[in-house]
Amino acid sequence: MGRKDGPSWGSRGGGGGVFSSRITIAVVIGITLGSFLAYISPHGFFLHSTPTDTRNSHGSVASSARTNTELPASSFSHRIALTEDAKIAKIQEELTAQKKENDRLLKERIDLKRQILELSREKNAAQTKAMTFGPPVKAGPVGTMKSLRTFPTVEPGNEITNPELAELLQEVAINRELIVGVSNRNVLQMLKVWFDSIKVAGIKNYLVIALDDHTADFCRENKVPVYRRDATISSAQKDTGDNHAVSGLKFHLLREFLVLGYSVLLSDVDIVYLQNPFDHIYRDCDVESMTDGFDNLTAYGYDDVSDDASMGWARYAHTMRIWVFNSGLFYIRPTVASIELLDRVTLRLSKEKAWDQAVFNEELFFPSHPGYEGLHASRRVMDFYQFLNSKVLFKTIRKEPANYAHIKPVTIHVNYHPDKLDRMLGIVEYYIKGIKNALDKFPDGSE
Ligand SMILES: *[C@@H]1O[C@H](CO)[C@@H](O)[C@H](O)[C@H]1NC(C)=O
Repeated sequence: MGRKDGPSWGSRGGGGGVFSSRITIAVVIGITLGSFLAYISPHGFFLHSTPTDTRNSHGSVASSARTNTELPASSFSHRIALTEDAKIAKIQEELTAQKKENDRLLKERIDLKRQILELSREKNAAQTKAMTFGPPVKAGPVGTMKSLRTFPTVEPGNEITNPELAELLQEVAINRELIVGVSNRNVLQMLKVWFDSIKVAGIKNYLVIALDDHTADFCRENKVPVYRRDATISSAQKDTGDNHAVSGLKFHLLREFLVLGYSVLLSDVDIVYLQNPFDHIYRDCDVESMTDGFDNLTAYGYDDVSDDASMGWARYAHTMRIWVFNSGLFYIRPTVASIELLDRVTLRLSKEKAWDQAVFNEELFFPSHPGYEGLHASRRVMDFYQFLNSKVLFKTIRKEPANYAHIKPVTIHVNYHPDKLDRMLGIVEYYIKGIKNALDKFPDGSE
């Protein structure tokens, strides 16, 4: 990173300074020398040589001498002016070269960032292995202690419990990861917008879990990879509404993928894909999730100070706040903690009438306390400008397109609005078809 802002720019600025001061010195020397020569030799300095001679013996400088044979002093100034021109041209050349170099460095920097991510991932995996199987770690000096960011990865056992899915995943997954969407026949229109956008974005590794035959057929007709799976919804979840019932079930279904050693980007179908998410995922935690937050504080966490005036001196108490992880889009790696998370959520949803997203967040965030043992899985919040929720899009970005022109969303989840299909279609028109006013008709929130 330092390369862009540091040395290369620095040397460019420094180089310019050196050059301009050199020019100044050259000019001063030139004028002084010229005046001095004019003084000691008022009748000219080059009179001894004919114009033709000078041209032949002194090259380009001679051409100025030839036209100025009567005024030798100014011939020197002219000569300096010429060298100055050459210098300016040279500087301009160098500036252009420097610009090209900067562009190249910028590209290199992006590549390096990717490589660093890859290396840190590998280092993390190696550390995990060492910590799990190796001897105790020796404490090092300040700043060298780094705890683990992820639990050990699981590997499929010898006995594959679900050969059908194992075979399907071998075909569909790339680098042992894929997008998985769960759908039934009630949301087929949204499902179509979902997989159409995935196809347009050039993503190959995705799969639909079809909860009924109709959905499975619909996927096959559209050449969408599909895994037919019956919905066995626990009785406690049955009455929480169809949407939430599917959401609860998905944690259970997801387990089958993780146990086979695959990472999954679990995706609701009210999401439009604009880029390949796998180019923008860090893979350094057990769970990496999009957020319901809409700015740095709400998305990434902040100190929310509560006030109880009756306490006087201690009226202010500090609280930790973060907007919930959105369980409609999260990347989960096949680690011990990840599978435990899925099991905990599934178990609780089978016993309580609860919203799966609330349970998902509680299991991820609550610490151990009396009567409860926390999960302590590692988690990362996705960039809320890359993995957008519909509040960020409709309340912020679409209102000031010029200010947010640099933002290239990867996915947009219509989670904050009930008219999901219409807004998904609006998003496709706006971002994929380039229709500038496609989002104007929608109110900020629901009305
Ligand atoms: C938000 O956080 C990002 C880094 O996460 C930072 O680059 C940006 O400047 C922050 N924006 C504001 C308004 O603080």
